[in-house]
Amino acid sequence: MAAENGVPGTGHRLAVLGAGVMGSGIAALAVGHGIAVWLIDLDRRRLDEAPARIGHQVRTARLLGALPDGAVPGALVTGLSLAGLMAAGDAVPTAVIEAVTEHPDAKAKVLAEVCALVPPGTPIISNTSAIPVDELALATTRPADLVGAHFMNPPCLIRTVEVIRGTQTGEAALAALRALLAVLRRQAIVVEDAPGFVTSRILHPMINDAVRVVASGTASADAVDRLMQGCLGHPTGPLRTADLIGLDNLVDSLWVLHGRTGDEGCRPCDLLLEMVRAGRLGRKSGRGFYEYEGEPA
Ligand SMILES: NC(=O)c1ccc[n+]([C@@H]2O[C@H](COP(=O)([O-])OP(=O)(O)OC[C@H]3O[C@@H](n4cnc5c(N)ncnc54)[C@H](O)[C@@H]3O)[C@@H](O)[C@H]2O)c1
Repeated sequence: MAAENGVPGTGHRLAVLGAGVMGSGIAALAVGHGIAVWLIDLDRRRLDEAPARIGHQVRTARLLGALPDGAVPGALVTGLSLAGLMAAGDAVPTAVIEAVTEHPDAKAKVLAEVCALVPPGTPIISNTSAIPVDELALATTRPADLVGAHFMNPPCLIRTVEVIRGTQTGEAALAALRALLAVLRRQAIVVEDAPGFVTSRILHPMINDAVRVVASGTASADAVDRLMQGCLGHPTGPLRTADLIGLDNLVDSLWVLHGRTGDEGCRPCDLLLEMVRAGRLGRKSGRGFYEYEGEPA
């Protein structure tokens, strides 16, 4: 599916770290706009599956009019390390997007490695759901280059991106992110730094409450979702949203929020924890609150 150099003139070469739900989705958004992408993951299986998944997302988004039709897709190259891809391509990325698992230690390690590899002034963009940018900045040697960009899932279909300005985020990094989002035709809404920022601080405890309602036997997942859709205008309902996010990521993000706010409403409820232990992770595992057999994750 990929053209060698992407659409001439985009001038971007994006390194995306993490080829999971979000890394693949962000890669699809970028290649769909003609941007060359290096996609990196430690997990060889994820990397092997990524091109087909990304190709499917690009085709679907085009059919829905969410990506430009007829644009030559950007080149997609996968690899096990950013250092390896930089050496093989004898090139540097114009921006790095970190989309690895929502574990503070894993992100700190990745961000420290990125800082050591890319030239100063390269924007380092974190797609964390909940970890404050200032906390992530402690792991970097160049906090001015670090900025948060909370792409929503699926990135090709949701046009608004929550942009998080850490207290040390530089104007140049913010401007570079805005320019990249403009090429990707996303709308940036800039907020200040906090655990969960705006969207996860509100959405994640709400989903946790919805799971508690199901666990208490008040209503089925389907009834909760249909009520939230039909009565309150929620697009999919909180439990379908949970399945789309991935229950493992939801639990990780709730722990991050709980640890940094002390809000007991953010402590992942027992049913969520049980489902994650049982491997019922939502769409990505084929089963969560709903069944997704035969559907691409
Ligand atoms: N799932 C969502 O709806 C959603 C939405 C917005 C933001 N986010 C955030 O995006 C990030 C990724 O979430 P996800 O849902 O894609 O998770 P995921 O579990 O689907 O994927 C994470 C990937 O990161 C990889 N990884 C872990 N450590 C790595 C490392 N050191 N180097 C390279 N790859 C590594 C894993 O192998 C995995 O493939 C998280 O910070 C999450 O909170 C998720």
